[in-house]
Amino acid sequence: MLLFGTIYLIMGVQGQYLFDVEALRADFPILDRRVGGDPETAGEGEGDDTPLVYLDNAATSHTPDPVVDAISDYYRSYNANVHRGIHQLSQEASVAYEEAHDAVADFVGAAGREEVVFTKNTTEAMNLVAYAWGLEELGPGDNVVLSEMEHHASLVTWQQIGKRTGADVRFIDVTDEGRLDTDHAAELIDDDTEMVSLVHVSNTLGTVNPIGQLADLAHDRDALIFADAAQSVPTRPVDVEDLGVDFLAFSGHKMCGPTGIGVLYGREELLDEMQPYLYGGDMIRRVSFEDSTWEDLPWKFEAGTPSIAQGVGLAAAIEYLEEVGMDRIQAHEDMLAEYAYDELAALGGVDIYGPPGDDRGGLVAFNVDGVHAHDLSSILNDYGVAIRAGDHCTQPLHDEMGVAASARASFYVYNTVEEVDALIDAVREARDLFA
Ligand code: ALA
Repeated sequence: MLLFGTIYLIMGVQGQYLFDVEALRADFPILDRRVGGDPETAGEGEGDDTPLVYLDNAATSHTPDPVVDAISDYYRSYNANVHRGIHQLSQEASVAYEEAHDAVADFVGAAGREEVVFTKNTTEAMNLVAYAWGLEELGPGDNVVLSEMEHHASLVTWQQIGKRTGADVRFIDVTDEGRLDTDHAAELIDDDTEMVSLVHVSNTLGTVNPIGQLADLAHDRDALIFADAAQSVPTRPVDVEDLGVDFLAFSGHKMCGPTGIGVLYGREELLDEMQPYLYGGDMIRRVSFEDSTWEDLPWKFEAGTPSIAQGVGLAAAIEYLEEVGMDRIQAHEDMLAEYAYDELAALGGVDIYGPPGDDRGGLVAFNVDGVHAHDLSSILNDYGVAIRAGDHCTQPLHDEMGVAASARASFYVYNTVEEVDALIDAVREARDLFA
């Protein structure tokens, strides 16, 4: 494990890194992969002759050795089911799993583990609230307010709950610059609004939404607010109290943790009032043939054998990120995104979506004139550059932008200025190829 200190390396175009990025990269062996060549033999060493430039971190981030080691140690040393055995391994696993909830609570400023429910991912956390709270609380005459830049995890979920309950689902406009139209938000959020569900950092536009301001608007109308923090918790300091949110969700695999673990933060009194979303073992206190009662929070919402190894891995990922420092991770992401934005804009023939480079999260979605995003991604792959191409689970937003798809480069703690340069060089080649 690295000792991050106050090492400031003077590097290239952007001036400085705030931590030792090269040393940190040594924790991620996958970054030494070489790719390219014949797709049939990709990964087998044959034809893989190009250094990997991994810029698809908004889809999933990589996992550093300390996190892999923590998961491995769990399986090698104390693998057992939780809350079920009084034998030593079960007790050790239970403590580690419960303490993972404490680590998450500390990380996002929740009051305690009662407010932290482990789910499969952000999507499941959204569905949990939509089903457990929405089906009970919503009806004809009510409305739920979203924005046009919501991920399908939020948009489709509330859309379908709206259909089932008769509640209206409304969408706050996105301005031409890719920002939330807060005047429109103030019009849409009214006395019949029960829930405002908004993405914190847009996975397509990079927009950082003013969640605190929208939380005030929602609460003034006695509505609740749910923040989709899938792209914000991994990349910046997030505190649920400071944001003033009632619910917030994020995923472990976008923050150096494993797949298969997500988090729902909910205010304790709200989670307390909600009925379970899934029924089964571990979430009950007493069962008879006639009825059942529920375990305390958060276990009431964690039916069946949970993702124990993944919880342990998530706690290790949090420890890893905190050692770097969330402020420094945010500054690093901001720097790379601004540099990428400026360089892409300078290329010419490139449309970039979302706010200016100095006012966005760590990702840039764009299109090159005359080149379909999928073709672009395929050409970039030949240069070893991994990006995402498609609608990024924001189809209605792409409809509004008037494009079927876009290319997206997204950065994380281990990316470098040189990797952005590799992206720019490959985009230039692709543009010239199609010209
Ligand atoms: N939501 C993830 C992304 O934006 C998968 O790529």
